[in-house]
Amino acid sequence: MKTAIVYYSMGGNTEFAAKKIADRIGADLIRIEPEKAYPDKGFKKFLWGGKSAVMGDTPKLLPYEFDADKYDCIIFGYPVWASNFTPPIKTFIKANMEKIYGKQFAVFACSMGGGAEKSFDKLKSFLLINDFKAKLSLIDPKDKPSEENDKKIDSFISDLEK
Ligand SMILES: Cc1cc2nc3c(=O)[nH]c(=O)nc-3n(C[C@H](O)[C@H](O)[C@H](O)COP(=O)(O)O)c2cc1C
Repeated sequence: MKTAIVYYSMGGNTEFAAKKIADRIGADLIRIEPEKAYPDKGFKKFLWGGKSAVMGDTPKLLPYEFDADKYDCIIFGYPVWASNFTPPIKTFIKANMEKIYGKQFAVFACSMGGGAEKSFDKLKSFLLINDFKAKLSLIDPKDKPSEENDKKIDSFISDLEK
């Protein structure tokens, strides 16, 4: 089974996890970035990103390479913003929905501790699916490495391989 990990990361935590998972399962990494970067410092960081997530924005993305036909499974990875999945992921899905419909989906989210489950529910509805093959919620895995995070990654990978 060929897998793509499609992810957005502002501060590197999601990227850290995406690379770790990709190394273990041999997935391709597809990093998406908005054309206009979100402010990543100070008060504006939470204000702009939070507002964009709550408003359901679909920001334009920088060009990326993604050939849906190559993949059976797509894993989405993102930081939780205001208990939601991040807007660049929404843009990606909107642009590729027809091509990815019917594939297997899994998800991982990084957060400071809250909102991952809610974001999974919202993503499920957006993808029009009943459930994910595997789900993973991590607490700032790069900034706060922990045994707990590592164990959760192990269990996510074993769910993916079922
Ligand atoms: C705009 C914004 C909104 C956020 N909202 C939440 C939230 O609702 N719950 C939470 O636990 N963490 C929240 N966070 C924290 C990030 O989800 C968390 O630090 C994550 O690990 C960052 O991943 P990254 O380094 O890949 O960007 C928010 C961060 C930002 C910038």
